[in-house]
Amino acid sequence: MKAAVLRKGSPTLEVLDVPTPAPGPGQALVEIAACGMCHTDLHYLDHGVSTFKAPPIILGHEPAGTVAALSPDVTNVSEGDRVLIPAVLSCGRCSYCRAGRENLCDHLAMLGNHIDGAYAEYVVVPANELVPVPDDLSLEQVSVVADAVSTPYHAVTKRAKVRPGETVAVVGCGGVGLNVVQCAAVAGASVIAVDINDDRLTIARELGASETLNPTTTDRPDKALRKLTDGGVDVAFEVIGKPDTIGLAFNALRRGGRVCVIGFSHEPVELAASKIMFYELEVIGSLGCGGGEYPEIIRLIEEGRLKLDPIVSGTIPLEQINDGFDKLRAGQGIRWVVTP
Ligand code: APR
Repeated sequence: MKAAVLRKGSPTLEVLDVPTPAPGPGQALVEIAACGMCHTDLHYLDHGVSTFKAPPIILGHEPAGTVAALSPDVTNVSEGDRVLIPAVLSCGRCSYCRAGRENLCDHLAMLGNHIDGAYAEYVVVPANELVPVPDDLSLEQVSVVADAVSTPYHAVTKRAKVRPGETVAVVGCGGVGLNVVQCAAVAGASVIAVDINDDRLTIARELGASETLNPTTTDRPDKALRKLTDGGVDVAFEVIGKPDTIGLAFNALRRGGRVCVIGFSHEPVELAASKIMFYELEVIGSLGCGGGEYPEIIRLIEEGRLKLDPIVSGTIPLEQINDGFDKLRAGQGIRWVVTP
């Protein structure tokens, strides 16, 4: 099969012929229809972040496709089923999984990080992780759910627990942040979208933001956010992964507020401990999404409450995957989808 492989230290992926994997006990071979391209891959390509599995590794963690072959012991899916593959796979047996926190699993495996991913014609995964996709949803569109929508859904509903009527700031409105905007709006919050890119702020309004702020237009975006909300927001999400924007989100909070960090940064961040104590602020992290949350997300998409049209910018053939990463680097489009 063809696959886009990361070699050690390379800033590009190499499209190679590699052996097609075969499903072992409990596993399914899925023919990939589409795999969303995520900023996380740029951490490996550009920012020196290591994958857990040492290269060579096939990247790609936002896939959807069709079941092509099954181990004989699998009963939950059949060949030909249309499925979404969660970005993060869990064991189902450890104490975290049993407590319903599968995304913190002791044996957590992320596609394209701990194990080979889905910028490839096929991938093998545990069959019990597969999420059925209704016939009326396109696999190309649904692929981005596996991280770009599921991570925001988990952050908004399970981690920050956004309630109707709350004010929410979303700092960073790229492929992930725009979905934080729409998930928070669906949860009944009043949302302020914050980004340095005005085109993204326009899409944020389409997805439910009632206010927007471009930090380049003001010296003190934190103050501007506090002014817009009469003292600060109830919840601020950081969806970029930079110490200064984590600081901006933190400084936009009202008393009793909570900041939820979704963006990944390996740099230390300074937050005023006095404010955490004196204002009873909460600092919350959010990682991926548990497998059990996907059916609800698919239902919200089917009902038209979560929208994928404004998120998916177009498709890229596997052979041109490096052009897709150039588009990501240049901030062109929102979510590009590789179609092997
Ligand atoms: N202030 C405001 N917005 C900014 C700033 C800034 N200083 N710097 C960048 N941005 C905006 C960009 O304009 C872009 O819209 O942040 C957004 C980042 O979006 P993407 O590049 O599409 O990244 P995305 O895939 O959404 O991932 C964001 O979430 O899951 C993590 O690892 C991922 O850390 C990454 C983050």
